[in-house]
Amino acid sequence: MGEFIKTNINEIGGEVLTEEHKETTIIPGMANPLLKIDHIRKNFGDLTVLDDITVNVNVGEVVVFLGPSGCGKTTLLRCINGLETIQAGQIVLHDEVISGDKTKWSDVRQKVGMVFQSYDLFPHKNVLGNVTMGPIKVQGVSKADAIKEATALLERVGLPDKIYAYPRQLSGGQKQRVAIVRALMMHPEVLLLDEITAALDPEMVREVLDVVLELANDGMTMLIVTHEMEFAQKVSNRVVFMDKGNIIETGSPDDFFTNPSTPRARQFLDMFHY
Ligand SMILES: Nc1ncnc2c1ncn2[C@@H]1O[C@H](COP(=O)(O)OP(=O)(O)OP(=O)(O)O)[C@@H](O)[C@H]1O
Ligand SMILES: [Mg+2]
Repeated sequence: MGEFIKTNINEIGGEVLTEEHKETTIIPGMANPLLKIDHIRKNFGDLTVLDDITVNVNVGEVVVFLGPSGCGKTTLLRCINGLETIQAGQIVLHDEVISGDKTKWSDVRQKVGMVFQSYDLFPHKNVLGNVTMGPIKVQGVSKADAIKEATALLERVGLPDKIYAYPRQLSGGQKQRVAIVRALMMHPEVLLLDEITAALDPEMVREVLDVVLELANDGMTMLIVTHEMEFAQKVSNRVVFMDKGNIIETGSPDDFFTNPSTPRARQFLDMFHY
């Protein structure tokens, strides 16, 4: 678990901090969610790391997953993206089962974007090369269109002058913003973010979280694992608290953070002095 760095989101300023996206939230558990995680179980050998997990995510919803180290957050995101197999249950995207043998993972990964803690940019390609490669090679987008969109997105995340820079010439926060742009270039329907600021110096955390808040305001559907509690409360429509492979409680961010219903969640928040 990365060291907790408290970021005062309220100081960030600017319109990205509005909570507009929360007003347009569709009620959790609505009839036809975009993503259904349906009673899934994941074992590593004898160890059950996800035990009967069910979560439905609607279009435009931002769900934050919290819980102690080792409770299964990363594994859950990896299962959704097909990086891990599951032993029971199913994962459904748009009424299509995306878990199991018949899944075409190359298709799924275009619809489900993922950004990890460690920015895995190609070191020998510049920023433009990194972010346009997917759309050009996998989706058949023309080079001109890909460059146009990449330029606009890089501008949006505050990196217009880094288009031709190589990863080694970027700060951690800049690399992570490039990684987000790379995921967005595929026009995913869902974005999975796993502790994307955990490896960053404190002064870089904010610039990355700002981008995520802006995406939330724009209606991006996201599943986020983070140890930034203030950000979690701000960005989410729903909090899912896990422990030892189980969901212990779920709730609205305001309820969860001000009045969690389980002692385990209270204890967890106390660890963060939140
Ligand atoms: N490839 C693997 N083989 C065996 N066990 C694994 C593997 N990956 C994860 N685990 C185990 O699965 C459990 C859940 O791990 P996971 O990485 O999902 O936790 P996490 O909630 O993301 O923790 P953290 O907050 O530290 O990132 C842990 O007990 C871990 O040791
Ligand atoms: Mg993890």
